Amino acid sequence: NIKASCSHIYFPSTLAELQQLPELTADKTSSNTSDNNADSFYILGEGSNTLFVESQAPIIIQPKFTGIDIDEQDDHFVVTVGAAENWHKLVCFCLAQGIYGLENLALIPGSVGAAPVQNIGAYGVEFADFCQQVQWYEFASKTLHSLTKQDCRFAYRDSIFKQAHYNKGLITQVTFNFPKAWQANLTYAGLDTLAQNSTALEVMTQVIALRSRKLPDPKQLPNAGSFFKNPLVNQKVFAQLQQQYPKIPHYPQANGEVKLAAGWLIEQTGLKGFRHEAVGVHQQQALVLVNYGSDFGSDIISLAKYIQRQVVDKFSVLLTPEVRMVTQQGERSFSLLPD
Ligand code: EPU
Repeated sequence: NIKASCSHIYFPSTLAELQQLPELTADKTSSNTSDNNADSFYILGEGSNTLFVESQAPIIIQPKFTGIDIDEQDDHFVVTVGAAENWHKLVCFCLAQGIYGLENLALIPGSVGAAPVQNIGAYGVEFADFCQQVQWYEFASKTLHSLTKQDCRFAYRDSIFKQAHYNKGLITQVTFNFPKAWQANLTYAGLDTLAQNSTALEVMTQVIALRSRKLPDPKQLPNAGSFFKNPLVNQKVFAQLQQQYPKIPHYPQANGEVKLAAGWLIEQTGLKGFRHEAVGVHQQQALVLVNYGSDFGSDIISLAKYIQRQVVDKFSVLLTPEVRMVTQQGERSFSLLPD
């Protein structure tokens, strides 16, 4: 529903078109560090993880690189995909070709080019697991670079594209490596009921069923998926929380931190299903904020601030947004709390 207009929008689909883009204000280094890092343009995928906060948007660049190329090797497939291809269609296409691995990531809205930016993940699998390289166009040098998986510095909902490379270029193409030796990943709750010898198609069908049960279809009820990231806390903080809330869902991380479930924290504050005018907290998944009919992104921001405050007051844990929030001046990483 949210309406925003912009002065210019570019749809580059070739290197030459990228090189013809106007000079852009890309002198900031990170989207995640301060309240004053607005830039005057925004790189848009399909918009499924973007919230336009004001009625005016900045200059928009929406890459239109398309195409899927499959290179079959003895023991793996190398699949190269244009950034503008739709993610879920790619998952279905790969499965239809007998190329397995992405089935746990079925039904995630958005474009292939957006997948590396926040290292999309669901049901025990993340983009990084199958990434071979990412082709990235750098504005300053006007050239394409091939970044290896290591170069991309993938982490939970994070990558170099949100850090050192933030707004310094855009992704044109993604290359995956799918080993032919495939085994279903059934670790996540809801998939663990499937038989060990389940096919990739059966896994995908189950993932689609799980998602459809909990996550509203953005076309039916506008939303941007999880609004906040699942917070990471250190062991000391976690031990205190667990003492007070023995049932708190938690996921120990390799680096010793503990990931908490933001949806659970929000539900505990009593806000699951909460509605304020035309926006609300989804009935089945408290981490998803839904828009019942507001024209204004600012209504979602107000709700998000309210949720953040309730969670801080109850658990002393700050939820940080996962959704990208865009004003006329570009993306803003404003910490929601202070207002
Ligand atoms: N929970 C509640 N109440 C809720 C929601 C969740 O108690 O309202 C509890 C669940 O019972 C479970 C835990 O929280 O114990 C985790 O819930 P769930 O499995 O639904 O996943 P999530 O942590 O809320 C994450 C991703 C999703 C992804 C799912 C499945 C983030 C921010 N979100 O959600 O990704 O689909 O896991 O893997 O990491 C997205 O990024 O937009 C997104 C939808």
